[in-house]
Amino acid sequence: MNNGETILRFNKVSFAYGQEKPILDEADFSVRKGSKITLMGQNGAGKSTIFNLITGDLSPDSGAVNLGVGVTVAEAKQVISRDLLPLTVREFFQKCFSKPTFAKASAGQAKIYDIDPRIDEVLEIVNLEADHDKIIKSFSGGQQARILLASAIIQNPDLLLLDEPTNNLDKEGILHLTKFLIDYKKTCIVISHDADFLNAFTHGVLYLDVFTRKIEQYVGNYFDLLVEISARIERENRKNAQLAKQIQEKKDKANYFAHKGGQLRFLAKKMREKAEEMEEEKVDVRKEDKTIRQFFIPTQENIGGEILNITSFSVMKNRKSVKREANISLRKRERLLLAGPNGIGKTTLLEALVSGKAKGAKIAPNVQVGYYRQDFSTLNFDDTVYQSLSAVAADMPEDKLRSLAAGFLITGDLMHSKIGSLSEGQKGLVSFARLVLQKPGLLILDEPTNHINFRHLPIIASALNKYEGAMILVSHIPEFVKQIRIDEIIDLDK
Ligand SMILES: Nc1ncnc2c1ncn2[C@@H]1O[C@H](COP(=O)(O)OP(=O)(O)OP(=O)(O)O)[C@@H](O)[C@H]1O
Ligand SMILES: [Mg+2]
Repeated sequence: MNNGETILRFNKVSFAYGQEKPILDEADFSVRKGSKITLMGQNGAGKSTIFNLITGDLSPDSGAVNLGVGVTVAEAKQVISRDLLPLTVREFFQKCFSKPTFAKASAGQAKIYDIDPRIDEVLEIVNLEADHDKIIKSFSGGQQARILLASAIIQNPDLLLLDEPTNNLDKEGILHLTKFLIDYKKTCIVISHDADFLNAFTHGVLYLDVFTRKIEQYVGNYFDLLVEISARIERENRKNAQLAKQIQEKKDKANYFAHKGGQLRFLAKKMREKAEEMEEEKVDVRKEDKTIRQFFIPTQENIGGEILNITSFSVMKNRKSVKREANISLRKRERLLLAGPNGIGKTTLLEALVSGKAKGAKIAPNVQVGYYRQDFSTLNFDDTVYQSLSAVAADMPEDKLRSLAAGFLITGDLMHSKIGSLSEGQKGLVSFARLVLQKPGLLILDEPTNHINFRHLPIIASALNKYEGAMILVSHIPEFVKQIRIDEIIDLDK
């Protein structure tokens, strides 16, 4: 294939999950060989679904997804699915080669005999040392993100698909990945909400519009796209304003002639018809994606005094557990930031704390803990959204729950969808709705920005900043942390 040749083309592709959930409506776009493209759009718009259409895991209801002849595809998924978590690293990578789908990199290959050296090679690319017999589940979120990335790279595909690869990665991890993508020679499509990351390597943007269910294609980076979109909205508004003016003129004249009677009445009718025609010419102005409504997380009543106390904790240094001293005490309105690189033990510390198994740390009795988990493992995937919300607010009527969920853009039929079938960002938004209902005395937030569209982040930060209980926050997004007042910091690396 020559450079500039099309490697992937969507031709009038329509797709829906059942009758209620349309995702694409005759969407078209194409990707050139060697280009690095970004796929953007609202949480739940269908970005991950588009990747599944490209890999062949899903098929369009109509239209065609055309890959160039012999083109191989590999995808790093947004999260490791729960059934793969008990596998060892070796088994997990072996599995990447056993999918018989037409689009997969190595269709037909059953067992890879040199898998161990190949795993080492790709783990080096993603900057991770890992024992091949270790269970996937035992890796930290950031380490799992690296393993996911490596699982696509190991297939050496012609078309690389990365679904939110920066989630959970620390600063160093993001820098490393950015450099990898800048140097990458083949074609890739990346889904991400991180504008700085995207701007570093992208040649063009595909924007999935949730209102039209079409894919808009832009050249340049995310900033170019913003300029182009606002110019377009302005153009469309101007055109409509002009038409509106002309229509009004026609109507005024029509009224004038209508009163004159005789032949002029015929002219008035013509003018009205013309005005109606012009009405049709008005364009639908591009609508901006919606943002979640402002919200407030109430605090548990009747709590006072010390809520949390940490005197020591363990961290992982050079793959060994090391004990550290601390002197942290949190009361109402006090916030602790847990910092440190991927894999150092932030999540482990939080888990030990919540389960009561931590040696040098404890939560005061009767404190209601609102725990936002990085992997959403506090959510039951078989529950519907409605069940998941009423589980933490038993006596709340359905209309109240619906209204709360709508603020988080969980509307209509989504209320009766299973949590497991929500998009990752929607799972995050449901988790916030649950926190509102839980009224915690202690809020523990482990990477609460993962998967969530950037336009919602200021609203989430502002809600957290208004929270009156005690709070522990883990986040690798400095711009987000900056918006929240912090009283204490534990840097696990120091
Ligand atoms: N297997 C499924 N069955 C039914 N509905 C589904 C299924 N998978 C996804 N959906 C729904 O389809 C829509 C698109 O989901 P998708 O995961 O593609 O979104 P996304 O754009 O990747 O979102 P995010 O930014 O949150 O990752 C969502 O409303 C989701 O609830
Ligand atoms: Mg997704």
